[in-house]
Amino acid sequence: MRIHVLSLFPGIFDGFLQGSIVRIAREKGAIDVELCDFRSFAAGRHATVDDRPFGGGPGMVLKPEPIFAAVEALEDTHGPMHRVMLTPAGRPLDQATLRRLSALPQLMILCGRYEGIDERVRSGIEWEEISIGDYVLSGGEVPAMVLIDGIARLLPGVLGDAESAELESFSTAGAVDHPQYTRPRDFRGMTVPDVLLSGDHAKIEEWRAQEAARRSEHRTLGTGTSPQSCAPQM
Ligand code: ADE
Repeated sequence: MRIHVLSLFPGIFDGFLQGSIVRIAREKGAIDVELCDFRSFAAGRHATVDDRPFGGGPGMVLKPEPIFAAVEALEDTHGPMHRVMLTPAGRPLDQATLRRLSALPQLMILCGRYEGIDERVRSGIEWEEISIGDYVLSGGEVPAMVLIDGIARLLPGVLGDAESAELESFSTAGAVDHPQYTRPRDFRGMTVPDVLLSGDHAKIEEWRAQEAARRSEHRTLGTGTSPQSCAPQM
């Protein structure tokens, strides 16, 4: 899958692309992330990408011309593709959306900045508008990384078989993962539940399903972490 990211701050993606699951996905040839700084499509000596809003008001608005030019140049070279605009006004991102986007051969992601984007970018180009949550960040770059990370791990061959199978069960059930433990068995008085050391796989699966359901319920009720999760077991 090839992802084109339109951003005024492509440098923000450096560490992200060189680390994380995305590096693995790139090394395996499952994903190719191309950064496009749409400032390079801006006209004039100063390559201006933003301007004051008509009608007055604080902040600057991203001009339409460089974004239109960048989209057209990308599609002239790579063909038409699905386009995503990251905006707090978009539809909330969920696992089903990640799954749908991960099946596409190509994707364009526009990262907004500043106070906003000229409305003609929204009305004159077709976008799927996506939000990563009900809060406002200073730009779409971090949301784009969220989107790309979520897509990369769904691409065939990126995760190991066991992890993929596990992921499948979570994403369909919408459930939350069960608690996991590794060594030591006793850490500062907090011990690993006996069932996990029992070797009884049926019992372990039953315990995990119960714990996942309990976590899921806690999350729905907004009660946060489970009561005993922080307290040492004496
Ligand atoms: N840009 C700024 N805030 C955002 C958010 N919450 N989701 C997507 N894009 C954004």
